[in-house]
Amino acid sequence: MTARSLSTSPSRKGFGVASIPTGLDTAAAGALGLAGTAALQSIEAVAPTASDTVLISGATGGVGALAVQLAVARGARVIATVRLGEEADFVRDLGAAHTVDYTGDIAAQVRAISPQGVDAVIHPAGDGRALADLLAPGGRFASPVGLGPDQLGRQDVQATSVMATPTPEVLAHLAEEVVAGRLHVPIWRNYRLEEVAQALADFAAPHVGKLAVSIG
Ligand SMILES: NC(=O)c1ccc[n+]([C@@H]2O[C@H](COP(=O)([O-])OP(=O)(O)OC[C@H]3O[C@@H](n4cnc5c(N)ncnc54)[C@H](OP(=O)(O)O)[C@@H]3O)[C@@H](O)[C@H]2O)c1
Repeated sequence: MTARSLSTSPSRKGFGVASIPTGLDTAAAGALGLAGTAALQSIEAVAPTASDTVLISGATGGVGALAVQLAVARGARVIATVRLGEEADFVRDLGAAHTVDYTGDIAAQVRAISPQGVDAVIHPAGDGRALADLLAPGGRFASPVGLGPDQLGRQDVQATSVMATPTPEVLAHLAEEVVAGRLHVPIWRNYRLEEVAQALADFAAPHVGKLAVSIG
């Protein structure tokens, strides 16, 4: 990443480079690109409305934390998976209405909140097939992990395997959302380059949001 560009890996439709606008720091820009694109395109795939309940599995991670905010911005009621404790506070601060402990019986917890099932599932983590079972008939499922209709075992739901396409337009839109204060990039810690070994160790340990490594 250069000092004033927001970039990701090359994609099918573009090279994933956009200028960083004033008001977006480089750590947030670096953390935003691919995770933000995956979150945005997952949300667009399920198109939540204000009457929808959306289950986001992996809500404490880079993609999930951004997806929570994007779903809430559309007025949806979000159920977020967490380990109990500070992770629950983290996703509630992002706008989640409910939390469920993913180390326990997710199905029972979700059914207690939404007995008729949920309208949409975003799947950055967890057992996709079990999560799809929690959809109401006609529900929508988006998986940045790559699950599609053939893996879900249900014919009565719409499933989208999301491959993030970070075009310059998408990156610019995400950056504008952050600058406008409508989207927060949750950075757990910003490391110097010489701390990269610690960053990798911390990545493997419990954390919430993104870890950033700054160069220079
Ligand atoms: N399709 C694409 O273009 C695209 C783009 C970006 C990312 N991805 C993929 O999307 C996935 C998520 O990426 P990420 O950057 O958000 O990863 P991440 O930051 O590591 O987040 C994953 C989160 O899932 C949580 N988790 C782990 N097991 C879980 C379970 N069984 N149920 C619910 N939550 C669980 C983790 O919590 P703990 O900390 O408690 O373990 C963590 O907070 C990865 O597989 C990544 O490769 C795909």
